[in-house]
Formats: sequence, structure tokens, C-alpha cells
Amino acid sequence: MRPEAIQIIKDEHFAVAAVLYSLRYLVRQMRDGEIPPDFVLLRAILDYIVSYPDRWHHPKEDKFLFAAIKRRTGEADAIIADLLKEHEDGHPLIENLKNLLIRFQNGDREARTLFFEAAERYVEKEWQHMRKEEDQVMPVAEKVLSKEDWADINQAFQENDNPLFGIKPKEEAELLYQRILELAPAPIGYKT
Ligand SMILES: [Fe+2]
Ligand SMILES: [Fe+2]
Repeated sequence: MRPEAIQIIKDEHFAVAAVLYSLRYLVRQMRDGEIPPDFVLLRAILDYIVSYPDRWHHPKEDKFLFAAIKRRTGEADAIIADLLKEHEDGHPLIENLKNLLIRFQNGDREARTLFFEAAERYVEKEWQHMRKEEDQVMPVAEKVLSKEDWADINQAFQENDNPLFGIKPKEEAELLYQRILELAPAPIGYKT
């Protein structure tokens, strides 16, 4: 049977990809003047990215999945090193987007262009990142990890909703996602 953590990671990637797709769509619409810039909505999307993939999903991959693979084999070392670097690089990229958004909101024309470009680049990078994990790392994980390894990894990923963590990241992400849908115009969100 397929380890549960694999399905959880794929589900989380799917949720993140949906938000990234929305970001790219909205950014293009705003850039082309189809819709006015909505700073509250853009900020809500950036907050989602910080709180869910950046603070929650990526650290679990580092600490449990990648670490377990490295204990069993060196064959994925190069790709794991790339992915760890991309996780690290995620923080400054988001900080940069937040700063550009503030400048854009304050009427800086250059920041407007830079924000749209940086947002598109971020979406592309993150998509490629998730694809690498699914296409290159998961097959190695399924090949080399033992039942016991998976038991630990599964537990770590299932703990997403464990109240012992204080906050419930999945719940928080769900609330942020609902907020994005409420703020976003159709076809992304509910607003008409
Ligand atoms: Fe990742
Ligand atoms: Fe991931």
C-alpha cells in the first residue's frame, strides 16, 4: 500500500498549487488592466504562502522525509540539496514580494512592474519545486524507505492537525483560503 505521507504531501501540493494558480491569474489580470489591483487580496495570498507551505509544509519535508531518505541512500543527495536550498530561498522571495507590494500600494510604478514579475517567477519556481519532489524524490523514497521509516514520516505529516501544536495550521490555512475565495473575483473566487 502507498505510504499515507505521500498522499498527504500530494494533497498539500494540490492546495498550494491552487493558490499559486490564482495568484498568477490575478496578477496577469491586474497587470493587463482587466481588474484593478486588489491589495487586500494579494496580501491574503502572500499570508497563505507564508503560513502554510513556507512555515509548515516545507519544514516537515526537510525534517522527516528528506532526512529519512538521506539516512538510507546517497542517490538523492543532489536533488535534496537543491530542494533544501529552494526551501531556504523561499523566505527572502516572499519578503521581497511583501515589500514590493507595499511600495506598489504606495504608488511606486516601478514596484508595480517588479511585483508582477516577481510573483510570476515565484509561482513558476514553486511549481517546478513541487514537481521535482513528486517526480524525483518520491520514487526514491518509495524504493528505499522501510515500513518503520514510513511510520515516523506518516505520523509527522498526520500531526498537521494536532492541537498540541497550539495553532492548527491546516485549519488556519483553510480559513486563509476561504478568505482568498471571498475576496477574489470569479472565476477564482466567489465575488461577482
Ligand atoms: Fe518542498
Ligand atoms: Fe513539497
